[in-house]
Amino acid sequence: MSLSQPRLRLRFLSILLLNCIVFASNFLINNALPCRPDQIQALMQFKNEFESNGCNRSDFLSGVRCDNATGAVTKLQLPSGCFTGTLKPNSSLFGFHHLRYLNLSHNNFTSSSLPSEFSNLNRLEVLSLASNSFVGQVPSSFSNLVMLTHLNLSHNELTGSFPQVRNLTKLSFLDLSYNQFSGTIPSDLLLTMPFLSHLNLKENHLTGPIEVPNSSSRLVYLSLGNNQFEGQILEPISKLINLEYLELSSLNISYPIDLSIFSSLKALLILEISKNRLLPASLSSDSGIPLSLEGLIMSQCDIIEFPNIFKTLQNLQHVVISNNRIKGKVPEWFWKLPRLSIVGLVNNSFTGFEGSSEVLLNSSVQILDFAYNSMTGAFPLPPPNIIYLSAWNNSFTGNIPLSICNRSSLVVFDLSYNNFTGPIPRCLSNLKIVNLRKNSLEGSIPDEFYSGASTQTLDVGYNRLTGKLPRSLLNCSFLKFLSVDNNRIEDTFPFWLKAVPNLQVFTLRSNRFFGHLSPPDQGPLAFPELRILELSDNSFTGSLPPSYFVNWQASSVKINEDGRIYMGDYKNAYYIYEDTMDLQYKGLFMEQGKVLTSYTTIDFSGNKLEGEIPESIGLLKGLIALNLSNNAFSGQIPLSLANVTELESLDLSRNQLSGNIPRELGSLSFLAYISVAHNQLKGKIPQGPQITGQPKSSFEGNVGLCGLPLQGSCFAPPTQQPEEEDEEEEEQVLNWKAVVIGYLPGLLFGFVIAHVIASYRPKWFVKLVGPDKQKKADNSVSLFMSMDSRWESFNSKNSVESEM
Ligand SMILES: *[C@@H]1O[C@H](CO)[C@@H](O)[C@H](O)[C@H]1NC(C)=O
Ligand SMILES: *[C@@H]1O[C@H](CO)[C@@H](O)[C@H](O)[C@H]1NC(C)=O
Ligand SMILES: *[C@@H]1O[C@H](CO)[C@@H](O)[C@H](O)[C@H]1NC(C)=O
Ligand SMILES: *[C@@H]1O[C@H](CO)[C@@H](O)[C@H](O)[C@H]1NC(C)=O
Ligand SMILES: *[C@@H]1O[C@H](CO)[C@@H](O)[C@H](O)[C@H]1NC(C)=O
Ligand SMILES: *[C@@H]1O[C@H](CO)[C@@H](O)[C@H](O)[C@H]1NC(C)=O
Ligand SMILES: *[C@@H]1O[C@H](CO)[C@@H](O)[C@H](O)[C@H]1NC(C)=O
Ligand SMILES: *[C@@H]1O[C@H](CO)[C@@H](O)[C@H](O)[C@H]1NC(C)=O
Ligand SMILES: *[C@@H]1O[C@H](CO)[C@@H](O)[C@H](O)[C@H]1NC(C)=O
Ligand SMILES: *[C@@H]1O[C@H](CO)[C@@H](O)[C@H](O)[C@H]1NC(C)=O
Ligand SMILES: *[C@@H]1O[C@H](CO)[C@@H](O)[C@H](O)[C@H]1NC(C)=O
Ligand SMILES: *[C@@H]1O[C@H](CO)[C@@H](O)[C@H](O)[C@H]1NC(C)=O
Repeated sequence: MSLSQPRLRLRFLSILLLNCIVFASNFLINNALPCRPDQIQALMQFKNEFESNGCNRSDFLSGVRCDNATGAVTKLQLPSGCFTGTLKPNSSLFGFHHLRYLNLSHNNFTSSSLPSEFSNLNRLEVLSLASNSFVGQVPSSFSNLVMLTHLNLSHNELTGSFPQVRNLTKLSFLDLSYNQFSGTIPSDLLLTMPFLSHLNLKENHLTGPIEVPNSSSRLVYLSLGNNQFEGQILEPISKLINLEYLELSSLNISYPIDLSIFSSLKALLILEISKNRLLPASLSSDSGIPLSLEGLIMSQCDIIEFPNIFKTLQNLQHVVISNNRIKGKVPEWFWKLPRLSIVGLVNNSFTGFEGSSEVLLNSSVQILDFAYNSMTGAFPLPPPNIIYLSAWNNSFTGNIPLSICNRSSLVVFDLSYNNFTGPIPRCLSNLKIVNLRKNSLEGSIPDEFYSGASTQTLDVGYNRLTGKLPRSLLNCSFLKFLSVDNNRIEDTFPFWLKAVPNLQVFTLRSNRFFGHLSPPDQGPLAFPELRILELSDNSFTGSLPPSYFVNWQASSVKINEDGRIYMGDYKNAYYIYEDTMDLQYKGLFMEQGKVLTSYTTIDFSGNKLEGEIPESIGLLKGLIALNLSNNAFSGQIPLSLANVTELESLDLSRNQLSGNIPRELGSLSFLAYISVAHNQLKGKIPQGPQITGQPKSSFEGNVGLCGLPLQGSCFAPPTQQPEEEDEEEEEQVLNWKAVVIGYLPGLLFGFVIAHVIASYRPKWFVKLVGPDKQKKADNSVSLFMSMDSRWESFNSKNSVESEM
């Protein structure tokens, strides 16, 4: 499967895909590798150089191809996540001299440097070493790989100057992005690589000018963002007349960029120029920007007026002008662009929409986000084909338009943090995500969920809702996240919800719920997938049977460190939505944080629960926070709590617990916050680094307790402590960042941070920040996936179609 055909098209990916399918089916038919035994042996030796718990022999061999004449290995495509270990210079890999295709991407070569022995493989046409944890410099011997058409070293930690690739004259794909290469780019790079069609140098520390051949270059894809390229790079780029994709975020230019410099790029489809200052005049309608443009991304460009540049661009599909300072109303003409599909207007100073409330009705837009603006008045009628509609954090008033009910394509609907009044529309069943948090909505939650409803996330917290929880929620078999906190709902505990198999997060904090929390049969509470249950500040009564928690499978599982996924992570090629929630944890409060799926908490505080704490709590091995404070629990603190080894926060204060604090609690090594204040506990406080580091206030109000951190020895009962309240109150107002700092190891009390369970990134920091940061660690939340991937899926889709 040589990729060195003269016709170098963007379609590489899909072609590759088709070829792979052909290969795979050949392989299945032959069902025997035409590999020489010595080659198989060498392959197994290569495998044995690494830990390969991620894949077995047949996984590994499924990516191998041998020449059917000579039996020599010609292709090796390692499954991702197969190997961990060091790639040594004497690795048997470098004995496969006949390799033409080598892809080791997405494995972990734990900070190996790149052995210069790669140069032995001088028949290679395709070499991909992306996302492999390689460090250090690229050996100069790479310049011997003169047959290469495809070289991908992206997403490593490679350093040093630009690799010596100048005499790899057949290259058509060169990807060095997301590394730490520094110094200048060889200015004649494009002159020496006449076939180069795809060049990605994004996120390095590169500088310098480039030269462009007089004869037309074949370059169609160029990404140079987040380097230190200066203004002089622009003029040569303007000569790359075949460019279709151009990404130039965050250039190091001291003057505003005049977009008309790109007017010669007649084939340009996507231009991303975020985080640069743009010449205001060049945003006017006669800027000369290529009319072919389908995507224009200008996030964080200090734009203050709505760009008229869009007026002439009749092919536009994808527009992002988020994180600017645009004032006034969104003009009416904008919505007449015939192919508009994705629009991001987040974090500007828009006050509303020009035109009538029907202005969006003729628009083709499908994904529309204008969160974090200053829009007031009534909400416009939503566009007919809308899929994703987010207007959160504005000041809209009036009712939620009922016309959303006949937008059958709508999937994500977020109007949270506005001033909507009136009822909730009676048509939520079609929507996957409904977020109406922090408005002034009234009436009850409509009891209209039909069988097969798509609802996965329903957040109606902080409104003025009354009535009961709708019984038809039972029809929402996909429901994962249900938040009705801070309303005036008056109902008994919804035991019937146990029939919703996927419920993971359920909060009904601060309502008027009443009655018993234990099921009528006094058996366990059956919510197998539940991870977060917050019932605080209601009027629940009664006691909990000892077996109360036995059915909570999800919380009984210990944290899976690999699955560091945020809760409610809905992804597709165009947008990401992640559930956020208020966290009350370690005695502190964090508004709308993102939560890892491993975060497991129970909060029953502020009710009238009595009796003993169920012994079965000890089964919830994954529990991170438990708050039973402000109830009337009595009896002893269950010994089984010592089995909840992940526990970081335990609040049993203000109950009527008696007896000793179990000594075993002293060994809970992640416990960063504990309070048993205001009970009737006695005896010696168990000692251990986590407990003695707590403030005195955590133990006060128990006349019988003694030992550190309380003063006094255990022989003379201590007298009541004077005021310690100041310290505590101050803590309450600390924000989450302060918590993280506060609990850094060794800083305050020497606590261990067990898990970074939440990321403090209120949604306005994360949504639609523009596509540019997608790949970076935890910042990976934006409305759209990176432009690259959208572009690729877009193109491969198109090419598959055109090839059929
Ligand atoms: C190897 O893994 C594949 C899929 O990961 C699986 O289908 C196969 O059964 C496994 N083979 C053995 C021998 O474990
Ligand atoms: C090797 O395989 C190719 C394609 O599968 C086939 O065209 C060719 O005839 C085979 N050569 C030999 C020697 O079997
Ligand atoms: C290399 O392998 C990865 C999977 O590990 C795959 O996603 C990628 O497309 C492959 N690249 C090439 C050029 O085959
Ligand atoms: C490769 O070199 C290492 C030392 O760096 C040695 O321990 C190992 O045995 C060698 N492996 C082979 C296959 O020669
Ligand atoms: C690679 O493996 C090392 C050692 O097992 C580990 O510390 C590191 O986190 C891994 N890196 C990645 C990116 O998985
Ligand atoms: C290089 O590999 C990375 C990581 O797999 C991938 O995202 C990128 O598309 C690849 N580049 C090319 C040109 O195929
Ligand atoms: C490529 O460059 C290297 C070093 O710069 C040189 O040794 C080698 O001969 C060159 N190969 C070709 C084919 O020019
Ligand atoms: C391009 O042409 C100009 C004059 O036509 C010449 O001066 C220049 O050297 C040429 N540049 C390259 C890179 O060939
Ligand atoms: C350009 O980069 C240098 C070095 O990082 C920095 O000091 C300077 O402020 C940057 N200038 C602009 C306009 O971004
Ligand atoms: C809004 O955009 C500005 C840039 O114009 C940026 O500095 C700021 O951090 C953004 N605000 C939020 C909340 O994302
Ligand atoms: C909502 O309206 C109330 C008064 O009814 C006002 O105090 C509040 O600031 C408004 N909130 C927003 C987000 O506009
Ligand atoms: C703690 O767990 C172990 C094993 O899982 C069990 O044998 C023991 O009885 C538990 N201790 C308590 C107090 O529940």
